[in-house]
Amino acid sequence: MTGGHPDLSVDLGRGLVLPNPVGLASGTAGYGFELRRLIDIDRLGALFTKGTTLRPRPGNPPPRVAEVRGGMLNSIGLHNPGVEHVAAVYAPEFARWSVPVVVNVAGGSVDDYLLCLRRLEDAPGIAGYELNISCPNIEGGMDYGQDAAAAARLVAAARALTSRHLMVKLSPNVTDIAEVARAVAGAGADSVSAVNTFVGMKVHRGIRAPVLPGRGTGGLSGPAIKPLGLAAVARVRAAVRIPVIGVGGIMDAGDAVEYMIAGADAVQVGTATFVDPGAALAVLDGLRDAAPGLRARPAAALRGGTVPPAGVEPASTG
Ligand SMILES: Cc1cc2nc3c(=O)[nH]c(=O)nc-3n(C[C@H](O)[C@H](O)[C@H](O)COP(=O)(O)O)c2cc1C
Repeated sequence: MTGGHPDLSVDLGRGLVLPNPVGLASGTAGYGFELRRLIDIDRLGALFTKGTTLRPRPGNPPPRVAEVRGGMLNSIGLHNPGVEHVAAVYAPEFARWSVPVVVNVAGGSVDDYLLCLRRLEDAPGIAGYELNISCPNIEGGMDYGQDAAAAARLVAAARALTSRHLMVKLSPNVTDIAEVARAVAGAGADSVSAVNTFVGMKVHRGIRAPVLPGRGTGGLSGPAIKPLGLAAVARVRAAVRIPVIGVGGIMDAGDAVEYMIAGADAVQVGTATFVDPGAALAVLDGLRDAAPGLRARPAAALRGGTVPPAGVEPASTG
């Protein structure tokens, strides 16, 4: 207990200690500036930034999001201001915040990723990196995430470049997510996050065409993917010893508890923030309420389902 509060901190290794296990998922909170005006993001465990690329990207043409039953599809296409702006303008601001900021990095080639990381290395206020090898919305965005050997080469090169925490965001759009997890862990990743969005499509019957332009597909997120995310986390947990961060369809504290039972050390809240900007804080408060009953850090106490999730109702049954 610290100051009457249970200690919910999570040590993810290589200097990245989250004050608590609840973060904001990449791409659903930008770089934190807008959300800061609405909620106290400094109470959260981490902010995972929008996928950042070497050059600024305008993203895909609109419409870029579509609601579907139980979730949403997005095809943002990595709209971001580019690494120079993030390093020079945003990072000095991050340094003033108490929430750890993990920069999500994306690229089309190993060189893209490395040049991006190299620029960020000089910047302050960055708690670690989340290598996005799993973006379904740009040409080649999943190339590394779908090829274990390519993913390992990328991670080994990134590992050689930084002593900051290196998390790898895994793609669920693969036959065997455990194989990719093992490959990146072997190449030096400090942790893995799972999962990114699932490739999906929404069709408009009136115009007899997909709602999202371009390739017609987008990334599915939200409650619809929670069972898929849980299964992926359980598989990854069984495959590697490094920390696993669970993400996918977490809408409340009960969902977060389910991810921890499946093996997650920490969680990220994404689509729920679009429904309620305070969703991640509500997840955190729910975990805090449950923690005294657990007499331990939630993830450690819950992992593998050895301890019943006292005080937190599962979000869904049946
Ligand atoms: C609008 C939107 C943009 C996203 N952008 C990124 C991104 O830039 N990089 C990334 O790794 N994941 C991105 N994601 C995926 C989320 O971080 C998360 O993995 C996914 O949405 C599943 O979690 P959720 O169901 O809680 O939203 C994005 C998701 C959404 C909905």
